[in-house]
Amino acid sequence: MSARNRIVQVAGAAAAGALVFGLASCSNDAGSASGDELTTVGFVAVGPEGDWRAANEQNIQDTFSEDAGYELKYAPAANLDQKSQIDAFTSFVDEGVDVILLSATEGSGWEDSLERAQEAEIPVILIDRGIEPDNTDLYVTRIAPDNQQVAAGVAEWAVSEFPDGANYFVLEGPAGVSVVNERNEGWDSVISENAAFEKLGAQTANWSTEEGKSVFETVLKSNDNDVQLLFAQNDEMGLGAVQAVEEAGLTPGEDVKIATIDGTKGAMEALAAGELSFVAEYNPLFGETAVDVVEKALEGESVEPYIIVPSETFDSSEAAEAALPDRQY
Ligand code: AHR
Repeated sequence: MSARNRIVQVAGAAAAGALVFGLASCSNDAGSASGDELTTVGFVAVGPEGDWRAANEQNIQDTFSEDAGYELKYAPAANLDQKSQIDAFTSFVDEGVDVILLSATEGSGWEDSLERAQEAEIPVILIDRGIEPDNTDLYVTRIAPDNQQVAAGVAEWAVSEFPDGANYFVLEGPAGVSVVNERNEGWDSVISENAAFEKLGAQTANWSTEEGKSVFETVLKSNDNDVQLLFAQNDEMGLGAVQAVEEAGLTPGEDVKIATIDGTKGAMEALAAGELSFVAEYNPLFGETAVDVVEKALEGESVEPYIIVPSETFDSSEAAEAALPDRQY
């Protein structure tokens, strides 16, 4: 079931869910527009992970400002460790914050935490990352671009770029992270329909430029450079692969076309330079949407269970050059 279909299917449950959270929390009117105390927001965050994460978490912190009526308590994970996130989550529940924002380092293992928040009548909003089981009774909504749709868009570009198919490899994010599975599903939903595309393999490079370079160096060597296409699930890994292609004496954008997801400045500059061939934005700037959802949840209004953040794609140097002056991240 696509994310969109699911929105139609569960809107009723979410509405009921939001109503429960809202009624239980309506004592904490969102913001201090009326001059009351600040709304406390516990942000269980990922922390340092790359340029996309930095942009997303800064945008959330900037938007939930004191001027806007919020006290945002930022709790980045220690070295991407889920236990440190669960500990921060528990502290926020014990402290009785008004609402919790969660960007999960791991896609599972959250049931106990979410049940504690529900018992404490504290609404939880997922930022970017989904979790399993996807029980929308335990959280208000997830705010993110549609990973399946974004990745399918990359695959559609690949099919148009290689009408006779290609040998390709996939650099994935870390195992167990929700967006990795969603991006694979979106990519496969298009590419698997086209027999001319040969998957040489897939491997995580942990969102990292250094690992992206080292993994793709090995891929090129073990395939005698007979690789025409790379799908890198984020910019940093794709930029590392660019280095590997160049050090193999090949030309990125010609011998090997590299497509990435995120749309950070570094990737857009590489696209403008012809080193990357396609960049699909995964828009990180949705702080205003998150504020709107918090206000609705605390006021008892219904909220869609998955709020999709619109994102663009860029398929040429010209597109990147045109977009760069206005980019905010
Ligand atoms: O969850 C979003 C992903 O996490 C981004 O694509 C990646 O850059 C970040 O680390």
